[in-house]
Amino acid sequence: GPLVRDEAAQQLTEYAASKEYGSRGIITNTGGNPIANHDSSVTIGLRGPTLIEDYAMFDQLTHWTHERISERVVHAKGSGAFGYFECTNDISQYTVARIFTSVGKKTPLAARFSTVIYERGSPDTRRDPRGFAVKYYTEDGIYDMVGNNTPIFFTRDVTAFISFIRSQKRNPVTYLPDWDQYWDFISLRPECFHQTIYEHGDRGTPDGFRHMHGFSSHTYMLINADRQITYCKFHYRTNQGVRNLTAQRALQLEGQDPDYSIRDLYNAIHRGEYPSWNLYIQVCTPQQAAELPFNLFDVSKVLPQKDFPLIPVGRMTLNRNPSNYIAEIEQLAFNPAHFIPGIAATPDRMLQARLIAYADTQRHRLGVNYLQLPVNAPHYVKNYMRDGGQVINNQNGAPVYHPNSFNGPEVDPRIAQLFPDRRLCDKIVQIDSIVEDNYQQPGVLYREVFNEQQRQTCANNIAFTLRRCTERVIERTIMELTKIDDDLGRRVSRIVNQAVNPTAQV
Ligand code: HEM
Repeated sequence: GPLVRDEAAQQLTEYAASKEYGSRGIITNTGGNPIANHDSSVTIGLRGPTLIEDYAMFDQLTHWTHERISERVVHAKGSGAFGYFECTNDISQYTVARIFTSVGKKTPLAARFSTVIYERGSPDTRRDPRGFAVKYYTEDGIYDMVGNNTPIFFTRDVTAFISFIRSQKRNPVTYLPDWDQYWDFISLRPECFHQTIYEHGDRGTPDGFRHMHGFSSHTYMLINADRQITYCKFHYRTNQGVRNLTAQRALQLEGQDPDYSIRDLYNAIHRGEYPSWNLYIQVCTPQQAAELPFNLFDVSKVLPQKDFPLIPVGRMTLNRNPSNYIAEIEQLAFNPAHFIPGIAATPDRMLQARLIAYADTQRHRLGVNYLQLPVNAPHYVKNYMRDGGQVINNQNGAPVYHPNSFNGPEVDPRIAQLFPDRRLCDKIVQIDSIVEDNYQQPGVLYREVFNEQQRQTCANNIAFTLRRCTERVIERTIMELTKIDDDLGRRVSRIVNQAVNPTAQV
């Protein structure tokens, strides 16, 4: 726990004891020039003003005023680690992706886990989804699998997504979380209820980052050597066992140890208890997808495991903590558009928007050449792009235009041969996706997946914030919950109207 000296608390002691780093050196300025004094400014006499020629002081001061980089617009609070993926089952019948087609093959990776809504310094035990992002450094470049700890997402269209996120962030006047804007939006956009019910169940407050599953959530496309398409969802299942915090314990940790999840991951890896997850896929042919009673490219839906069982692929193990949090975790830049041959996007309209949004925000957050930072850089990159701020790599003077007669790189014909055979032809429309079924799968989750105690916890957790809302928002939310399940609507209504503190019942 945080009140005793845990593994993380030993960091400085370990530094001082290390042979490599732990001998005192001399202090320099940022230019490497030795300085005379680190702790006092150069002044005129004992009580006079500071001299501008005190560059050592200004060097420190002006570095310090630039020491914060923008935080991620979502998923700002988190931590991560490094390790490898080992393929245990060859799935070449579905994909040519080389990380998944030879048993025993190991691919290095980085993983980052996060909460979604609040800022970089916020408590990481809050009720919120957890990001689950994995960067594979493969021989075909970077592959980023940027998922969450939930198999579904709230919205199914990017336009609704943007409002959804704003409604959960701080009210711009009071700068406080605003439960009216939170429940108002959800109750007006009932597609959000599937994940809202999930999040208000026990899994909404996982016990750190090690004890939760991870999901691609979206459906992706796999392509095999015959250019055949199979649709696929990825599932990482924790080998630590699923463990959740009660609502009460999560609230208590917000005060006692707001960095509980970061600490837990760091300490476990430091102790040599390397967390691991087994990777599975669920597959669905285009024919089967056409026959499903829902749109497979709607990220608010699960693909039932009883009809589409999990197929094992391999195991991810994390065995190294970052040695420089800002360089290796804060500057990690995941992008769902980083695919390797054999894996591709589907028409999921949330995913389509994500293919643009990540690189866009990262150019703002980290600068145009952020993919040259060591933690983001692929092993191999050759192209015709150059220049921009903080450039590191000029590709050894290779030509900057194509075609050329000076040995510039050419495309690999293998990749064109994998181009899947697809035809997408329909009328162009702009139709609100709210018309799709919003109630069936959340009802199944509440009635069939949750047990009696979990149903009660879910109702308590919803009421805990809903009871702070204005009458109109409460009424509409309860009406919508009743459409999902009568019993859920009744329970939430009872707790809200009792005006008791719902956490007392958790
Ligand atoms: C982070 C956009 C949906 C998972 C981010 C970031 C943006 C973003 C701009 C910050 C990236 C950065 O600064 O490096 C969007 C948009 C979405 C969407 C526009 C919908 C249209 C989703 C969904 C998932 C997801 C459905 C999960 C299945 C994540 C994760 C991160 C993230 C895990 C943090 C990655 C990290 O650890 O650095 N998202 N997102 N997002 N998003 Fe999304």
